[in-house]
Amino acid sequence: MARILVTGGAGYIGSHTVVELQTKGYDVVIVDNLSNSNIDVLNGIETITGIRPAFENIDCVDYVSMDRMFEKYNDIEAIIHFAASKAVGESVEKPLMYYRNNLVSLINLLQLMPIHKVKNIVFSSSCTVYGQPDILPVTENAPIKPALSPYGNTKQVGEEIIRDTIYANRSLQSIILRYFNPIGAHSSAEIGELPNGIPNNLLPFVTQTALGLRKQLMVFGNDYNTPDGSCIRDYIHVVDLAKAHVIAVQRMLNKQTKSDVETFNLGTGRGLSVLEIIKTFEEVNNVEVPYKIVARREGDIEKVWADPSYANNELGWTAVETLEETLRSAWAWELNYAQRVNAEQS
Ligand code: UFG
Repeated sequence: MARILVTGGAGYIGSHTVVELQTKGYDVVIVDNLSNSNIDVLNGIETITGIRPAFENIDCVDYVSMDRMFEKYNDIEAIIHFAASKAVGESVEKPLMYYRNNLVSLINLLQLMPIHKVKNIVFSSSCTVYGQPDILPVTENAPIKPALSPYGNTKQVGEEIIRDTIYANRSLQSIILRYFNPIGAHSSAEIGELPNGIPNNLLPFVTQTALGLRKQLMVFGNDYNTPDGSCIRDYIHVVDLAKAHVIAVQRMLNKQTKSDVETFNLGTGRGLSVLEIIKTFEEVNNVEVPYKIVARREGDIEKVWADPSYANNELGWTAVETLEETLRSAWAWELNYAQRVNAEQS
């Protein structure tokens, strides 16, 4: 079976995708510099699939090491490129770090692909490229709005770099996946979201607050133009998201793509407010999440949710997990992780 290079494969979406790839019989090599992930994730993957993926501790920005890696694994047929920095606020403070990490890594891969005869790359993009869409749900044809952060800009420019490169070298092809908000964890609770430090994203903050690690959750604004005043997002189970990557890889390897660069929205098609997420989390897990309403967070989009019909029809993929199951899985992972940490400390 083909070998797939998964950059950022020790991370949140990456690790879940490695599991799905292995389950379908693919060989995997993970390249990850562990800047926002932990090597222990390999144990979780191995416990689930029975296979320990090949792992290389390399920063994708390091061209020479990446070149050597491609020489070592000379059977790579496709790349899934997750490795990137992703904290919006941090990107405002450290723009050059974001441009270097996110763009140089992509440029290195695109440069090395023809040298090592790798034709296929899946790119992690984001619904952030749409900004606040004028029409909801948002389709892939919606206009790209000016980015609100250097992070968002790296996703827009990353997409452009791919299009320009493939226009100039038609032997390459790419599938660009625009993620909405991935949440939840593998049903085994062996892998899940594990942010370093104080979480930026909603769900890890919710689970850590429910556990008592944080005093209370801050809800950023209840005066938006939405039914309950809090922001609306399209929350998708990370395993659903991971499965779409396997389908994208298969589509490229089987030469089923309709153009050299294809772009798909990966979402559920359902928008949910912050307050709805908190309430449902409390109900399905029978646990309290103390929260308070605070001021709006700078740069937040008021409401966005996907029209996933293009991915549904073309990829034959649909997000199937229920919100309830997704929120249960997030909590099960947090509890399992806490138990593990306690056991190690005692
Ligand atoms: N939120 C809170 N309190 C928190 C954290 C988040 O109220 O402690 C709210 C946010 O204001 C927002 C919603 O929860 O309304 C979701 O916030 P996240 O930070 O989880 O997700 P975002 O939609 O802001 O960010 C996601 C990705 C980013 C990406 C961005 C682009 O996580 O990587 O979409 O829109 F850049």
